[in-house]
Amino acid sequence: MSRPPSRLDLAVVPTAVERAVWLDGPATAVWIKRDDCSSPIYGGGKVRKLEWILANPPYADARPVVSVGGTGSHHLLALALFLRSQGRELHSWVFEQPWTPHVRQNFAVLVSLGVRLWPVRTRARIPLAAMAYYGWQRPPVLGTYMAAGASTALGCFGFVEAGLELARQIEAGELPHPDEIYVTAGSAGTSAGLILGLALAGVRTRLHLVSAVEKWAFNRALLRLKLRQAHAALRAHGLREAETRTAAAWIADAGLTIAIDHQQLGGGYGVPTEAARAACELGRANGVGFETTYTGKCVAALRAQEGSARGAARNVLLWNTHASNDLSGWIAADWRERSPIMVPDAPG
Ligand SMILES: Cc1ncc(COP(=O)(O)O)c(C=O)c1O
Repeated sequence: MSRPPSRLDLAVVPTAVERAVWLDGPATAVWIKRDDCSSPIYGGGKVRKLEWILANPPYADARPVVSVGGTGSHHLLALALFLRSQGRELHSWVFEQPWTPHVRQNFAVLVSLGVRLWPVRTRARIPLAAMAYYGWQRPPVLGTYMAAGASTALGCFGFVEAGLELARQIEAGELPHPDEIYVTAGSAGTSAGLILGLALAGVRTRLHLVSAVEKWAFNRALLRLKLRQAHAALRAHGLREAETRTAAAWIADAGLTIAIDHQQLGGGYGVPTEAARAACELGRANGVGFETTYTGKCVAALRAQEGSARGAARNVLLWNTHASNDLSGWIAADWRERSPIMVPDAPG
């Protein structure tokens, strides 16, 4: 199989890089990578992954897909919307996360789109949803399982490309060489892909991976595993640089350094923090959307770092992985009646 895998044309790329003076600190000039505008259907980071995943086995046929996430999962939402455009069904094992207005809206869209749900109360109970799915609540046609966050080896290819895309934008002078890049992390596919893409292009920078999940869920060991898997897939598909050098060698040769930051997690996955809420407010006032589960915490990390920054001025890039699409038009009037779980009214 030493050929490049197929790819669907779902994302509108390259996404713009813009100056974000409103995020500057005393010693930082900030740019923002507008992946929030990466698709008229559903942008953000997920569409970059799905371009590759949905074009290749085992997901390239007409069968349903089954995957897993929180009630506000951007991954499930992206998957539901893009599978729908292919006339296909999504089955989801979902756990409840704090019901912020954003989470409630995402869940309303999932229900309205007719996604079939196997719900459980907490993340720890996801194995129960899987058991029900394959056992006593088995659907007539089983879906092909897709890992959380679409962080398969092929999914990472989307962000390898994204890293190369940014390198071209630096080369073209659309932004100065970034001393630091901030991006948020969950299932690690975004981070692993971006690391490989930036390293392959020789972009010397410090990558801050701001975790939206607990240490047991995102950590160096998981990142190393994803890096190895994505690198092996690149090699299997015939990328010469992957045959001759390991991922670790790419990273070392490029002078790329990686920091993992769990400081903004607050009360846990999906639990809003004051700093993330403030980041969302600031974004709104400046025409850029964030949310409190992932990107708000990433912006909060950037701002916290700025507060303590000293010394020479640095150029910083914030990668906005949140989709800015207005999804309210998808919400059916009767979504609450169709929902298999009770959704509280009060804003979270
Ligand atoms: C908006 C947003 N940004 C970033 C991420 C993290 O990406 P990954 O799961 O590849 O680490 C997610 C994951 O769901 C997300 O929804």
